Amino acid sequence: MTAIGIEDAKVIIVGGSSGMGLALARRLLDEGASVMIAGRSRDRLAAAHLGGHPKLATYVVDISREEEVAALFRESGPVDHIVSTAADIKGAYQLLPSIELAAAQRVVESKFYGPLLLAKYGAARLPPSGSITFTSGVAAYRPAARGSVVAAVNAALEGLVRALAVELAPIRVNAISPGWVDTPIWSLVAGDAKQATLEAMAQRLPAGRVGHPEDIADAIRFLIGNGFTTGTILHVEGGHRLV
Ligand SMILES: NC(=O)c1ccc[n+]([C@@H]2O[C@H](COP(=O)([O-])OP(=O)(O)OC[C@H]3O[C@@H](n4cnc5c(N)ncnc54)[C@H](OP(=O)(O)O)[C@@H]3O)[C@@H](O)[C@H]2O)c1
Repeated sequence: MTAIGIEDAKVIIVGGSSGMGLALARRLLDEGASVMIAGRSRDRLAAAHLGGHPKLATYVVDISREEEVAALFRESGPVDHIVSTAADIKGAYQLLPSIELAAAQRVVESKFYGPLLLAKYGAARLPPSGSITFTSGVAAYRPAARGSVVAAVNAALEGLVRALAVELAPIRVNAISPGWVDTPIWSLVAGDAKQATLEAMAQRLPAGRVGHPEDIADAIRFLIGNGFTTGTILHVEGGHRLV
């Protein structure tokens, strides 16, 4: 028996108020899990109420703040799985002369220090069969101009995942590495050119389309549920690394 059932499991999804995290919340609620979605904006969490589902809870947390992450796990009680799809990339996609350290720092905080803190405080709340899943991205493999900070932070996160898989064993630690997926994050990256940018990429990709949040939710569901997968970076990117 390698597949881990999700019915009645408790899952925390940081980033669950939007995009891939929200799609994952829907998926896991449909399967009978109890889901706590977490993020910084109370309004965004409230908007993602998922029809007031009885097994859905929300929690306001900024994972770049250590005391807030500690409080999250003090108050959460035991948890079966922890997922983070959080990213704050506002202002980070810039050519080198325009890079502002504050924007770069927000990427590091949301995608590296945040996950580090989630593991630091969350691991003690997990059972031996539990799992942690973080979110990297194709930028680490197919970087584009303006993407240096995100590329570097994704690569650092992947190193962290491998190290934590060893240190926290038998708790499993993995990362999903999405390609281009149509979520609200693209309004920050491309502004009004969002749809045109995504359509141009769809033409290039072997899969013939960009990703849907549900594609990534499905892959995270696999990482949560497969008891023999740890220290793995799962690429779900429509063939982007090949073109
Ligand atoms: N979409 C793509 O094409 C793509 C491609 C490659 C990789 N990725 C990666 O995939 C992940 C999910 O992306 P997405 O497109 O679903 O993004 P999204 O729709 O923008 O959602 C990001 C979520 O993270 C939360 N968040 C941001 N900073 C946070 C912090 N410091 N503490 C707690 N929560 C925080 C946001 O809520 P608040 O703002 O309210 O905190 C929001 O719920 C990210 O790691 C992203 O880098 C995305």
